[in-house]
Amino acid sequence: MDVFNSISEIRQSRWADPTLSWGLVPTMGYLHQGHLSLVQKARTENDRVMATIFVNPTQFAEGEDLSSYPRSLKRDLDLLKEAGCDVVFVPQDSEIYPDGFQTAVSVNVITKQLEGASRPTHFGGVATVVTKLFNIAQPTNAYFGQKDAQQTIVLKQLVEDLNFNLNLVICPTVREADGLAMSSRNAYLSKDERNQAHVLFQALTEGKNLILKGEKNAAEVRHLMKKLIEQQPLAKIDYVSVANGRSLEELETIEDGEVLLSTAVYFGNTRLIDNIPLSL
Ligand code: PAJ
Repeated sequence: MDVFNSISEIRQSRWADPTLSWGLVPTMGYLHQGHLSLVQKARTENDRVMATIFVNPTQFAEGEDLSSYPRSLKRDLDLLKEAGCDVVFVPQDSEIYPDGFQTAVSVNVITKQLEGASRPTHFGGVATVVTKLFNIAQPTNAYFGQKDAQQTIVLKQLVEDLNFNLNLVICPTVREADGLAMSSRNAYLSKDERNQAHVLFQALTEGKNLILKGEKNAAEVRHLMKKLIEQQPLAKIDYVSVANGRSLEELETIEDGEVLLSTAVYFGNTRLIDNIPLSL
């Protein structure tokens, strides 16, 4: 497995044989089985697999966890090698954002709700860095997790609007045994917080079950999910949403089509997100 820090090395490796297909898996490192599931999927669908490890400063707002974001490069590289990755791109900040950098990519509508409402500058940073990674790696296929549901919708819009010549592949959320979605940020949780954190998936599952039983009133579903989360003393709700799965607008009435149940919950300073997509 090759590990490169520079864009020029990535380009050289990517185009050494232009007939090969490439799968790209962008990450911020501190890898877990969720990330590795993307690498494993990419491994089955491409001649070569490239992962990137870059804690992208532009998607963190002032006061968020950029400086404390967990890092474990040596372990990450071992895991990527084991998962069958061919090339890893580990750039310094200055390789991605050199002095004088002044361009930003913004996706305007779908970024206003949910995560975008709580983190108004977040998706601008994601869209900008992913645009750069797509241009640097020029993959055939790019792999992202359902865990970050709104991110997948923003990136679909980006690929369509800017005519990127690649396929997006969205992979299912990988969970711990109690249902907690794997996340690098789970490392921040105390023992008590960790014990209560399964409530996100529990509430989403109960919400889903209520809808599958025929509930059409989205407010009832949100109410049930909120009630369950509030039963955990350390949980502080940021949002609980039952939205149209394409526009992400909150629903009043649940109708056939794509529905996204999602939630963001604080445990202390740690903000966890999870979601369940439904196709009715
Ligand atoms: P990061 O949070 O490191 O996640 C990298 C990829 O792994 C994302 O596509 C994310 O959705 C996926 N992922 C995370 N947890 C997962 C889980 N439990 N199951 C399945 N997939 C999971 O998302 C980012 O980094 C960044 O925003 C990035 C796209 C790299 C741009 O900086």
